[in-house]
Amino acid sequence: MPGDKSLSHRALLFNAVAGGRARIEGLLDARDVQSTANCLRAMGVSFEEGVLQSDGLKEPSGVLDCGNSGTSMRLMCGILAAQPFSAVLDGDRHLRQRPMRRVTVPLSRMGARFEGSEGADLAPLRVHGGALKSLDFTAPIASAQVKSALLLATILGAQGNLRYREPHRSRDHSERMLRAMGARIDEAEDGTLVVPGRQELHARDVVVPGDISSAAFFLVAASITPGSELLLQNVGINPTRSGVLDALWAMGADITQVDPREASGEPVADLLVRHAPLSGTHIGGALIPRLIDEIPALAVAAAFAEGETVVTDARELRVKESDRIATTVLGLRALGVVVEEQADGLVVHGGKPAGGRIDSRGDHRISMAFLVAGCAARGEVTALDCANVATSFPAFMNLLQSARE
Ligand code: S3P
Repeated sequence: MPGDKSLSHRALLFNAVAGGRARIEGLLDARDVQSTANCLRAMGVSFEEGVLQSDGLKEPSGVLDCGNSGTSMRLMCGILAAQPFSAVLDGDRHLRQRPMRRVTVPLSRMGARFEGSEGADLAPLRVHGGALKSLDFTAPIASAQVKSALLLATILGAQGNLRYREPHRSRDHSERMLRAMGARIDEAEDGTLVVPGRQELHARDVVVPGDISSAAFFLVAASITPGSELLLQNVGINPTRSGVLDALWAMGADITQVDPREASGEPVADLLVRHAPLSGTHIGGALIPRLIDEIPALAVAAAFAEGETVVTDARELRVKESDRIATTVLGLRALGVVVEEQADGLVVHGGKPAGGRIDSRGDHRISMAFLVAGCAARGEVTALDCANVATSFPAFMNLLQSARE
């Protein structure tokens, strides 16, 4: 499986701000991560052949282009908030429509200043960094991107503590990696994170495990295609990311974790998956942030399951790379699946989908989810506009093809 996207961004960004030299192995070689690397290069960081070298960030002369990557833009808002210069972050037409106020509002309360349209909600965004102060913040949504931006701003530049609460626990890759770099991040009994400001970070080598969000497409492909057996090697199974396993197990999937181990402080295993008859389930509540990027793939699994699968509490899907509730519903309908769209989720009535033609609307995970549906559908599935798989998984088509041979 390709390197984990979340961890790849963090390995680059955190080592760049720590300063020094670090070797990063297993980095995802895909467009989103290239966007992060290029932004860092524009601020004087060198990254060649897996080795990052930094003596702190310098003011960039041009715009920092985050491409399609929300993680790059939101985490960099936190980093730039603490720099003694101003910089402009921009992205492609999809990223320009995604909400940034979730980071610019709390960072402004810390003392940073942002300029952008719709009240600094939309890119391009100019970030004026500077002296920051403490923040006590209860996030309205469980978002690792928001949490990470505030952790970074605090550790790099705040005088005083961050106290951070979220409705459900979002992925904790940042906490793990920042601690490994020497940061103190405490967790109170009620789950509040308490983080002292202005801490020193030390560059650290990172081995990036395979991405469970990419593995999810193959877990579903093998589960729905009779006769399948796949071994997916070296997949990150951090419990804050592995909700897709819980959801598929609840549906009756035959998935075994083989040889569980650790890589750079992250749990990893090989995943053995065999075809199994699936049945419907409910996916909601605290499970949602643990599988937020896997819902299009799970909706495809649900389309091949017996009975009804209900997804609730997933309103965040509306502001991902596409409105993923709408694009998933449209895609399933194009395959003849009965599906109800709801404000915060969808209801999928399982069966045996037909072939059809779907439009990914520029969203890599929608393309991959429906190409997987094509493995087991009664007819051929055509996915339009799917060059975007290069965002997170350039080898997807070749791997899917070879898994089918
Ligand atoms: C990510 C966090 C998630 C996820 C995104 C990557 C990260 O977003 O959807 O693809 O690397 O922190 P939110 O936590 O903001 O929902």
